[in-house]
Amino acid sequence: MFHRRRLEHGAAVALVFSATVALGLALVSRDAVQGGVSLGAVVMLNAYLLQLMRPLEMLGFAARDLGQGLAYLSSLSHLLAQPTEAQRPREAGTASKGPADLEFDNVSFSFNAERVALREVSFRASAGATLAVVGPSGAGKSSLVRLILGLYTPSGGVIRLDGRPISTLALEDLRNQIAVVAQDTILLDDSLAANIALGSAAAEAQEIAGAAAAAQLSDLVALLPEGLRTRVGSRGLKLSGGERQRVAIARAAFKRARLLLLDEATASLDPVTEQAVWRDLAALGEGATRLIVTHRLAAARQADEILVLDQGAIVERGDHRALLEAGGLYARLWDEQHRAAASAPWAHG
Ligand SMILES: Nc1ncnc2c1ncn2[C@@H]1O[C@H](COP(=O)(O)OP(=O)(O)OP(=O)(O)O)[C@@H](O)[C@H]1O
Ligand SMILES: [Mg+2]
Repeated sequence: MFHRRRLEHGAAVALVFSATVALGLALVSRDAVQGGVSLGAVVMLNAYLLQLMRPLEMLGFAARDLGQGLAYLSSLSHLLAQPTEAQRPREAGTASKGPADLEFDNVSFSFNAERVALREVSFRASAGATLAVVGPSGAGKSSLVRLILGLYTPSGGVIRLDGRPISTLALEDLRNQIAVVAQDTILLDDSLAANIALGSAAAEAQEIAGAAAAAQLSDLVALLPEGLRTRVGSRGLKLSGGERQRVAIARAAFKRARLLLLDEATASLDPVTEQAVWRDLAALGEGATRLIVTHRLAAARQADEILVLDQGAIVERGDHRALLEAGGLYARLWDEQHRAAASAPWAHG
């Protein structure tokens, strides 16, 4: 596209110039024939016109480059106008220890006027608790997770971590406390180990192997020629969806964060692997507060509290037993899924 425009531009310049030279020569030749000007003047004019060609051409190129530069400048100024992390408050946060305490206080969020993702959502996951968020596709579950990570900013209400609004935390401090297995995982074009330890240069190989084992990756690693040092292709294309997801789980296991966010973390795993991963995650998450987003109610059933989200609002809440007794949306969904799959993937034993 770009080259084609360049070509068109060059052709246009050449055409205009050739036409000008031809016209000039034609006019002066006519005068020469009629005896108005000398033959020497015709030759001189020809030489001058040819000398003009290069500079004029350069002028054309300069005009084109200037236009391009201005276009880049406008996207640059747009970029510079974005708020940076440095503009967020950077109070020296006293790093808390132990499981985090997460609170949503009347949080609303919309992408734009028509797309409201969350409506006045309030809940609390106190330190060490396991909270499940269930609900149909498009209910706003992933948006809720992204709000906690500071990827989106609420349009109303406050999110608090250990009682402090997360908007007062530096993003780095906030994210250091959270491990997340997102719905879609992007891997770096680096070794498996680097993808699990993510920037922790001093990471012990043993720790990384432990995290890989917790994510049921050991068998895969054993098959690889260079084990954990094997490079995954760019964007992780050499791994299957389920393997990628397990790398993400290993990442979360490695991080040992205070708050563990799982967004459909086991959706691409086969039932047997899924059960094993959940067992390990349950053990691993002991030091963390857990927020589990899932379509599969069997994975939510052990949670201390289950939030049923529909069209951005919490329509039901309570533990598994209470929700079944309530006989609402959850009970209906449970009946449907229970008939389909009888096994509970996340059982403490
Ligand atoms: N970037 C975006 N711009 C505009 N609307 C969006 C954007 N991302 C999500 N949405 C809309 O916001 C709503 C909530 O999306 P969200 O991803 O939170 O749903 P979800 O509950 O995670 O769904 P799923 O179970 O399919 O993952 C949906 O209606 C979706 O179409
Ligand atoms: Mg989602």
